[in-house]
Amino acid sequence: MFQHHMRGYLHAALLAVLALSGVTAYAATADIEKKYNQSCATCHEIGVLGAPKTGNVAAWKPLLAKGEQVLVSHTKQGYKNMPARGLCDSCTDEDYLALIKFMSSPN
Ligand code: HEC
Repeated sequence: MFQHHMRGYLHAALLAVLALSGVTAYAATADIEKKYNQSCATCHEIGVLGAPKTGNVAAWKPLLAKGEQVLVSHTKQGYKNMPARGLCDSCTDEDYLALIKFMSSPN
């Protein structure tokens, strides 16, 4: 009897932990998508001024080969037709990296 209840409790606790971690991961993704829509999407969604398009893995491949840190610093400083900070003044280095990963993944 006691064991039965204990197992039910553990099960509920485990589900709660799983649910919480799922919510955190979802919130992080939703936040990056929101930042993307408010800034990078302006050009990278349809390739304005020759911007590599979001989800175009082949276009991003040679860029990713430059290294993540180079891409993050190009985003911050601006690069050719790409304006400094990519219209996201509140973005951190981590945000830029997440945005670059988001844009270079298949969609
Ligand atoms: C006003 C248009 C515009 C916006 C907004 C914009 N980009 Fe870009 N981006 C470009 C263009 C154009 C290029 C291609 C530059 C070139 O190679 O001529 C580019 C290239 C890049 C590259 C490749 C740099 C390299 O070294 O080749 C990265 C990384 C990048 N953008 C990240 C971002 C991120 C992250 C955001 C949002 C925070 C963003 N961009 C917003 C226009 C934009």
